[in-house]
Amino acid sequence: MTVFLLTAAIGVFVYIHSNNNERSKTVIKPKETEISQQNQVNNADWKAPDEATIPTGKTGDEIRYGKELIAHTSVYLGPKGKVKAISNGMNCQNCHNQAGTKPYSFNFSAVASTYPQFRVRSGSLVSIAQRINSCFNRSLNGQSLDTACKEMKAMIAYLKWIGQGVPKGTKPANAGVAKLPYLNRAADPIKGKIVFVACEVCHGKDGQGKLSEQGTEYIFPPLWGKHSYDDGAGLYRLANFAGFVKNNMPFGADYEHPVLSDQQAWDVAAFVNSQPRPHKDQSKDYSKISDKPADFPFGPYIDSFSERQHKYGPYQPILLAKNKIAEEK
Ligand code: HEC
Ligand code: HEC
Repeated sequence: MTVFLLTAAIGVFVYIHSNNNERSKTVIKPKETEISQQNQVNNADWKAPDEATIPTGKTGDEIRYGKELIAHTSVYLGPKGKVKAISNGMNCQNCHNQAGTKPYSFNFSAVASTYPQFRVRSGSLVSIAQRINSCFNRSLNGQSLDTACKEMKAMIAYLKWIGQGVPKGTKPANAGVAKLPYLNRAADPIKGKIVFVACEVCHGKDGQGKLSEQGTEYIFPPLWGKHSYDDGAGLYRLANFAGFVKNNMPFGADYEHPVLSDQQAWDVAAFVNSQPRPHKDQSKDYSKISDKPADFPFGPYIDSFSERQHKYGPYQPILLAKNKIAEEK
Protein backbone atom coordinates (compact mmCIF):
# COMPACT_ATOMS: atom_id res chain seq x y z
CA MET A 1 0.00 0.00 0.00
CA THR A 2 2.79 2.42 0.95
CA VAL A 3 4.73 1.44 -2.16
CA PHE A 4 1.66 2.05 -4.25
CA LEU A 5 1.03 5.45 -2.67
CA LEU A 6 4.64 6.47 -3.08
CA THR A 7 4.58 5.44 -6.74
CA ALA A 8 1.39 7.43 -7.20
CA ALA A 9 2.94 10.42 -5.45
CA ILE A 10 6.09 10.24 -7.56
CA GLY A 11 3.92 10.01 -10.68
CA VAL A 12 2.32 13.32 -9.80
CA PHE A 13 5.75 14.79 -9.23
CA VAL A 14 7.16 13.72 -12.54
CA TYR A 15 4.20 15.59 -14.01
CA ILE A 16 4.79 18.67 -11.90
CA HIS A 17 8.54 18.59 -12.63
CA SER A 18 8.01 18.39 -16.35
CA ASN A 19 5.84 21.48 -16.12
CA ASN A 20 8.20 23.32 -13.86
CA ASN A 21 9.89 25.97 -15.96
CA GLU A 22 11.19 27.77 -12.92
CA ARG A 23 13.92 25.37 -11.97
CA SER A 24 16.78 27.35 -13.39
CA LYS A 25 16.04 30.50 -11.37
CA THR A 26 18.87 31.56 -9.11
CA VAL A 27 18.64 30.75 -5.46
CA ILE A 28 20.41 32.57 -2.68
CA LYS A 29 22.35 30.66 -0.03
CA PRO A 30 21.35 31.37 3.55
CA LYS A 31 23.89 33.49 5.41
CA GLU A 32 26.28 31.44 7.46
CA THR A 33 25.26 33.27 10.62
CA GLU A 34 21.68 32.22 10.13
CA ILE A 35 22.43 28.49 9.97
CA SER A 36 25.47 28.25 12.21
CA GLN A 37 24.97 26.24 15.37
CA GLN A 38 26.48 26.91 18.74
CA ASN A 39 27.95 23.42 18.81
CA GLN A 40 30.88 22.17 16.86
CA VAL A 41 29.79 20.06 13.90
CA ASN A 42 31.31 16.65 13.87
CA ASN A 43 31.40 15.69 10.25
CA ALA A 44 31.01 11.97 10.56
CA ASP A 45 27.96 10.48 8.91
CA TRP A 46 26.11 9.53 12.03
CA LYS A 47 24.17 6.29 12.21
CA ALA A 48 21.93 5.27 15.09
CA PRO A 49 23.21 2.36 17.21
CA ASP A 50 21.83 -1.08 16.35
CA GLU A 51 18.67 -1.85 18.31
CA ALA A 52 19.96 -5.34 19.01
CA THR A 53 22.52 -3.70 21.30
CA ILE A 54 19.90 -2.37 23.72
CA PRO A 55 20.80 -4.19 26.95
CA THR A 56 18.52 -6.79 28.50
CA GLY A 57 17.00 -6.25 31.94
CA LYS A 58 15.58 -3.14 33.55
CA THR A 59 17.78 -0.57 31.79
CA GLY A 60 16.96 -2.09 28.43
CA ASP A 61 13.25 -2.25 29.22
CA GLU A 62 13.26 1.45 30.01
CA ILE A 63 15.02 2.30 26.72
CA ARG A 64 12.58 0.12 24.77
CA TYR A 65 9.60 1.74 26.47
CA GLY A 66 11.05 5.13 25.58
CA LYS A 67 11.29 4.14 21.95
CA GLU A 68 7.72 2.83 22.00
CA LEU A 69 6.52 6.16 23.40
CA ILE A 70 8.34 8.13 20.68
CA ALA A 71 6.95 5.86 17.95
CA HIS A 72 3.38 5.52 19.27
CA THR A 73 3.00 8.53 21.53
CA SER A 74 -0.71 8.87 20.89
CA VAL A 75 -1.53 5.32 22.00
CA TYR A 76 -0.17 6.23 25.45
CA LEU A 77 -0.55 10.00 25.71
CA GLY A 78 -2.95 11.05 22.93
CA PRO A 79 -6.68 11.92 23.18
CA LYS A 80 -7.46 8.25 23.95
CA GLY A 81 -4.11 7.59 25.63
CA LYS A 82 -3.90 4.62 27.95
CA VAL A 83 -1.53 6.39 30.35
CA LYS A 84 -2.87 9.96 30.19
CA ALA A 85 -4.62 12.18 27.64
CA ILE A 86 -2.28 15.16 27.24
CA SER A 87 -1.63 15.58 23.51
CA ASN A 88 -3.20 16.01 20.07
CA GLY A 89 -2.98 12.51 18.58
CA MET A 90 0.31 12.92 16.78
CA ASN A 91 3.34 10.74 17.46
CA CYS A 92 6.82 12.16 18.05
CA GLN A 93 7.92 9.90 15.20
CA ASN A 94 5.64 11.70 12.74
CA CYS A 95 8.30 14.44 12.61
CA HIS A 96 11.27 12.64 14.23
CA ASN A 97 10.99 9.85 11.64
CA GLN A 98 12.07 6.28 12.39
CA ALA A 99 11.85 6.99 16.11
CA GLY A 100 14.32 9.84 15.78
CA THR A 101 17.07 7.91 13.98
CA LYS A 102 16.68 9.05 10.37
CA PRO A 103 19.29 11.48 8.97
CA TYR A 104 17.98 15.02 8.36
CA SER A 105 14.65 14.17 9.92
CA PHE A 106 15.07 16.05 13.21
CA ASN A 107 16.88 12.97 14.53
CA PHE A 108 17.93 12.75 18.17
CA SER A 109 21.64 12.16 17.54
CA ALA A 110 22.73 15.42 19.21
CA VAL A 111 20.39 15.48 22.20
CA ALA A 112 22.59 13.62 24.72
CA SER A 113 25.69 15.49 23.51
CA THR A 114 24.30 19.05 23.57
CA TYR A 115 21.75 19.26 26.43
CA PRO A 116 21.30 20.98 28.76
CA GLN A 117 21.76 23.88 26.33
CA PHE A 118 21.01 27.59 26.25
CA ARG A 119 18.08 28.25 23.92
CA VAL A 120 17.41 31.73 22.57
CA ARG A 121 13.66 31.10 22.15
CA SER A 122 13.17 30.66 25.90
CA GLY A 123 16.25 32.69 26.85
CA SER A 124 17.24 30.01 29.35
CA LEU A 125 19.18 26.82 29.93
CA VAL A 126 16.97 23.93 28.78
CA SER A 127 17.21 20.31 29.94
CA ILE A 128 16.27 17.28 27.82
CA ALA A 129 13.01 16.97 29.79
CA GLN A 130 12.14 20.63 29.18
CA ARG A 131 12.95 20.27 25.47
CA ILE A 132 10.67 17.22 25.24
CA ASN A 133 7.93 19.17 27.02
CA SER A 134 8.32 22.02 24.59
CA CYS A 135 7.42 19.59 21.77
CA PHE A 136 4.49 18.30 23.88
CA ASN A 137 3.25 21.87 24.30
CA ARG A 138 3.71 23.06 20.73
CA SER A 139 4.24 20.25 18.22
CA LEU A 140 1.70 18.07 20.02
CA ASN A 141 -0.35 21.08 21.04
CA GLY A 142 -0.71 19.55 24.51
CA GLN A 143 0.45 19.70 28.09
CA SER A 144 3.75 19.05 29.81
CA LEU A 145 4.56 15.64 31.17
CA ASP A 146 5.68 15.45 34.78
CA THR A 147 9.48 15.45 34.46
CA ALA A 148 9.85 12.70 37.09
CA CYS A 149 7.27 10.28 35.66
CA LYS A 150 8.06 6.88 34.19
CA GLU A 151 7.27 7.97 30.63
CA MET A 152 9.54 11.01 30.70
CA LYS A 153 12.39 8.99 32.20
CA ALA A 154 11.97 6.30 29.56
CA MET A 155 12.09 8.79 26.67
CA ILE A 156 15.20 10.42 28.12
CA ALA A 157 16.82 6.98 28.53
CA TYR A 158 16.08 6.23 24.87
CA LEU A 159 17.44 9.60 23.67
CA LYS A 160 20.63 9.05 25.67
CA TRP A 161 20.97 5.57 24.24
CA ILE A 162 20.61 6.90 20.68
CA GLY A 163 23.24 9.59 21.24
CA GLN A 164 25.73 7.47 23.19
CA GLY A 165 28.43 7.54 20.47
CA VAL A 166 28.39 11.29 19.88
CA PRO A 167 31.17 13.20 21.69
CA LYS A 168 29.94 15.78 24.23
CA GLY A 169 29.51 19.28 22.82
CA THR A 170 29.40 18.09 19.21
CA LYS A 171 26.64 17.58 16.72
CA PRO A 172 26.68 15.19 13.73
CA ALA A 173 26.46 16.83 10.30
CA ASN A 174 23.24 14.94 9.56
CA ALA A 175 21.47 15.96 12.79
CA GLY A 176 18.42 18.21 12.72
CA VAL A 177 17.24 19.20 9.28
CA ALA A 178 19.09 20.23 6.12
CA LYS A 179 18.10 23.85 5.52
CA LEU A 180 17.49 24.64 1.86
CA PRO A 181 18.95 27.62 0.01
CA TYR A 182 16.61 30.62 0.18
CA LEU A 183 14.56 31.51 -2.87
CA ASN A 184 14.93 34.99 -4.28
CA ARG A 185 11.14 35.40 -4.06
CA ALA A 186 8.51 34.76 -1.42
CA ALA A 187 7.40 31.14 -1.01
CA ASP A 188 4.02 30.93 -2.71
CA PRO A 189 0.97 29.23 -1.16
CA ILE A 190 -0.82 29.20 -4.53
CA LYS A 191 1.99 27.30 -6.24
CA GLY A 192 2.21 25.14 -3.11
CA LYS A 193 -1.42 24.11 -3.46
CA ILE A 194 -0.52 22.50 -6.78
CA VAL A 195 2.40 20.64 -5.18
CA PHE A 196 0.04 19.52 -2.40
CA VAL A 197 -1.81 17.28 -4.89
CA ALA A 198 1.00 14.78 -4.32
CA CYS A 199 0.48 14.86 -0.55
CA GLU A 200 -3.27 14.32 -0.64
CA VAL A 201 -3.13 10.56 -1.26
CA CYS A 202 -1.93 10.14 2.31
CA HIS A 203 -2.63 13.33 4.25
CA GLY A 204 -6.06 13.86 2.64
CA LYS A 205 -7.43 16.64 0.45
CA ASP A 206 -8.47 18.43 3.65
CA GLY A 207 -5.03 17.86 5.25
CA GLN A 208 -6.60 16.06 8.20
CA GLY A 209 -4.69 12.80 7.78
CA LYS A 210 -6.11 9.37 8.52
CA LEU A 211 -6.63 7.67 11.86
CA SER A 212 -6.01 3.97 12.42
CA GLU A 213 -9.03 1.68 12.64
CA GLN A 214 -8.93 1.72 16.46
CA GLY A 215 -8.66 5.52 16.36
CA THR A 216 -5.75 5.56 18.79
CA GLU A 217 -3.11 7.01 16.44
CA TYR A 218 -2.69 8.34 12.91
CA ILE A 219 -1.57 6.21 10.00
CA PHE A 220 -1.12 9.50 8.13
CA PRO A 221 -0.81 12.49 10.46
CA PRO A 222 -2.76 15.73 9.94
CA LEU A 223 -0.98 18.73 8.40
CA TRP A 224 -3.32 21.40 9.76
CA GLY A 225 -6.47 21.82 11.83
CA LYS A 226 -7.13 21.18 15.49
CA HIS A 227 -5.15 17.92 15.72
CA SER A 228 -2.04 19.39 14.12
CA TYR A 229 1.00 21.23 15.55
CA ASP A 230 0.35 24.78 16.77
CA ASP A 231 1.80 27.97 15.31
CA GLY A 232 4.51 28.06 17.99
CA ALA A 233 5.96 24.72 16.80
CA GLY A 234 9.25 24.41 14.94
CA LEU A 235 7.49 23.12 11.82
CA TYR A 236 5.45 26.32 11.56
CA ARG A 237 8.64 28.06 10.52
CA LEU A 238 8.97 27.73 6.77
CA ALA A 239 12.69 26.91 6.68
CA ASN A 240 12.17 23.93 9.01
CA PHE A 241 9.13 22.69 7.11
CA ALA A 242 10.75 23.05 3.67
CA GLY A 243 13.94 21.32 4.82
CA PHE A 244 12.01 18.47 6.42
CA VAL A 245 9.70 17.89 3.47
CA LYS A 246 12.46 18.02 0.88
CA ASN A 247 14.37 15.17 2.53
CA ASN A 248 11.51 13.09 3.94
CA MET A 249 8.31 13.54 1.93
CA PRO A 250 6.45 12.10 0.11
CA PHE A 251 6.96 9.27 2.58
CA GLY A 252 9.84 7.13 1.31
CA ALA A 253 11.98 10.08 0.17
CA ASP A 254 15.28 10.70 1.94
CA TYR A 255 18.36 12.92 1.72
CA GLU A 256 19.89 10.76 -1.01
CA HIS A 257 16.60 10.34 -2.87
CA PRO A 258 14.58 13.54 -2.63
CA VAL A 259 11.46 13.83 -4.76
CA LEU A 260 10.66 17.54 -4.50
CA SER A 261 12.69 20.39 -5.95
CA ASP A 262 13.72 23.10 -3.46
CA GLN A 263 11.09 25.43 -4.88
CA GLN A 264 8.33 22.86 -4.52
CA ALA A 265 9.39 22.25 -0.92
CA TRP A 266 9.28 26.00 -0.10
CA ASP A 267 5.94 26.48 -1.86
CA VAL A 268 4.22 23.50 -0.25
CA ALA A 269 5.54 24.73 3.10
CA ALA A 270 3.87 28.08 2.37
CA PHE A 271 0.62 26.38 1.43
CA VAL A 272 0.43 24.07 4.47
CA ASN A 273 1.46 26.80 6.91
CA SER A 274 -1.16 29.18 5.50
CA GLN A 275 -3.93 26.79 6.61
CA PRO A 276 -5.67 27.14 10.01
CA ARG A 277 -4.12 25.54 13.12
CA PRO A 278 -4.10 26.07 16.89
CA HIS A 279 -2.61 29.36 18.05
CA LYS A 280 -0.04 29.74 20.80
CA ASP A 281 0.67 32.98 22.62
CA GLN A 282 4.35 33.53 21.87
CA SER A 283 4.73 37.00 23.30
CA LYS A 284 7.25 35.64 25.83
CA ASP A 285 9.43 33.91 23.20
CA TYR A 286 12.69 35.59 22.16
CA SER A 287 12.87 38.14 24.93
CA LYS A 288 15.79 39.52 22.89
CA ILE A 289 14.03 40.30 19.63
CA SER A 290 17.27 40.47 17.63
CA ASP A 291 17.48 36.69 18.24
CA LYS A 292 14.35 36.02 16.19
CA PRO A 293 15.22 33.93 13.13
CA ALA A 294 14.47 35.59 9.75
CA ASP A 295 11.51 33.23 9.20
CA PHE A 296 9.92 33.80 12.63
CA PRO A 297 6.40 34.89 11.68
CA PHE A 298 5.47 37.01 14.71
CA GLY A 299 6.67 40.56 15.40
CA PRO A 300 7.89 42.84 16.82
CA TYR A 301 11.18 42.79 14.91
CA ILE A 302 14.34 44.88 14.97
CA ASP A 303 13.89 45.49 11.24
CA SER A 304 10.94 47.08 9.43
CA PHE A 305 9.80 44.08 7.36
CA SER A 306 6.23 42.82 7.69
CA GLU A 307 5.17 39.63 9.49
CA ARG A 308 4.13 38.35 6.09
CA GLN A 309 7.60 38.78 4.63
CA HIS A 310 9.17 37.19 7.72
CA LYS A 311 6.84 34.24 7.29
CA TYR A 312 7.10 33.64 3.53
CA GLY A 313 10.23 35.51 2.49
CA PRO A 314 12.12 36.67 0.53
CA TYR A 315 14.48 36.38 3.50
CA GLN A 316 17.67 37.77 1.97
CA PRO A 317 16.68 41.46 2.37
CA ILE A 318 15.76 40.71 6.01
CA LEU A 319 19.15 39.17 6.68
CA LEU A 320 20.95 42.09 5.04
CA ALA A 321 18.97 44.54 7.18
CA LYS A 322 19.65 42.52 10.33
CA ASN A 323 23.37 42.42 9.61
CA LYS A 324 23.40 46.16 8.96
CA ILE A 325 21.64 46.90 12.25
CA ALA A 326 24.10 44.62 14.06
CA GLU A 327 27.08 46.40 12.45
CA GLU A 328 25.78 49.82 13.43
CA LYS A 329 25.61 48.79 17.07
C1 HEC B 1 5.05 18.41 14.45
C2 HEC B 1 6.39 17.92 14.45
C3 HEC B 1 7.01 17.45 15.75
C4 HEC B 1 6.51 16.55 16.65
C5 HEC B 1 5.21 15.79 16.56
C6 HEC B 1 7.48 16.44 17.71
N1 HEC B 1 8.55 17.25 17.45
FE1 HEC B 1 10.25 17.40 18.55
N2 HEC B 1 10.98 18.78 17.26
C7 HEC B 1 10.34 19.20 16.13
C8 HEC B 1 11.16 20.20 15.46
C9 HEC B 1 10.81 20.93 14.17
C10 HEC B 1 12.32 20.36 16.25
C11 HEC B 1 13.49 21.30 16.01
C12 HEC B 1 13.00 22.67 16.28
C13 HEC B 1 14.05 23.71 16.26
O1 HEC B 1 15.12 23.49 16.84
O2 HEC B 1 13.80 24.77 15.69
C14 HEC B 1 12.17 19.43 17.36
C15 HEC B 1 13.12 19.29 18.37
C16 HEC B 1 13.06 18.32 19.36
C17 HEC B 1 14.12 18.04 20.30
C18 HEC B 1 15.48 18.74 20.34
C19 HEC B 1 16.40 18.13 19.32
C20 HEC B 1 17.76 18.78 19.24
O3 HEC B 1 18.67 18.17 18.66
O4 HEC B 1 17.92 19.91 19.74
C21 HEC B 1 13.69 17.02 21.11
C22 HEC B 1 14.45 16.36 22.24
C23 HEC B 1 12.35 16.68 20.68
N3 HEC B 1 12.01 17.49 19.61
C24 HEC B 1 11.57 15.70 21.24
C25 HEC B 1 10.27 15.40 20.83
C26 HEC B 1 9.45 14.43 21.49
C27 HEC B 1 9.88 13.54 22.64
C28 HEC B 1 8.26 14.44 20.84
C29 HEC B 1 7.01 13.68 21.19
C30 HEC B 1 6.53 13.86 22.55
C31 HEC B 1 8.36 15.40 19.75
N4 HEC B 1 9.59 15.98 19.80
C32 HEC B 1 7.36 15.65 18.83
C33 HEC B 1 9.14 18.78 15.63
C34 HEC B 1 8.30 17.87 16.26
C1 HEC C 1 2.87 7.86 0.89
C2 HEC C 1 2.17 8.63 1.92
C3 HEC C 1 2.61 10.06 2.12
C4 HEC C 1 2.73 11.07 1.19
C5 HEC C 1 2.44 10.98 -0.30
C6 HEC C 1 3.14 12.24 1.91
N1 HEC C 1 3.29 11.97 3.25
FE1 HEC C 1 3.81 13.26 4.71
N2 HEC C 1 3.77 11.77 6.07
C7 HEC C 1 3.41 10.47 5.80
C8 HEC C 1 3.57 9.68 7.00
C9 HEC C 1 3.28 8.18 7.13
C10 HEC C 1 4.07 10.55 7.97
C11 HEC C 1 4.45 10.19 9.40
C12 HEC C 1 5.80 9.51 9.41
C13 HEC C 1 5.99 8.54 10.56
O1 HEC C 1 5.24 8.61 11.54
O2 HEC C 1 6.91 7.73 10.45
C14 HEC C 1 4.15 11.87 7.37
C15 HEC C 1 4.56 13.02 8.04
C16 HEC C 1 4.56 14.29 7.49
C17 HEC C 1 4.84 15.51 8.21
C18 HEC C 1 5.19 15.65 9.67
C19 HEC C 1 4.03 15.35 10.57
C20 HEC C 1 2.86 16.27 10.40
O3 HEC C 1 1.76 15.73 10.20
O4 HEC C 1 2.97 17.51 10.48
C21 HEC C 1 4.73 16.54 7.32
C22 HEC C 1 4.92 18.00 7.60
C23 HEC C 1 4.41 15.95 6.04
N3 HEC C 1 4.29 14.59 6.18
C24 HEC C 1 4.23 16.68 4.87
C25 HEC C 1 3.98 16.10 3.64
C26 HEC C 1 3.91 16.85 2.42
C27 HEC C 1 4.01 18.36 2.30
C28 HEC C 1 3.70 15.95 1.42
C29 HEC C 1 3.59 16.21 -0.05
C30 HEC C 1 4.74 16.84 -0.65
C31 HEC C 1 3.63 14.63 2.03
N4 HEC C 1 3.82 14.76 3.37
C32 HEC C 1 3.39 13.47 1.32
C33 HEC C 1 2.97 9.96 4.60
C34 HEC C 1 2.96 10.63 3.41
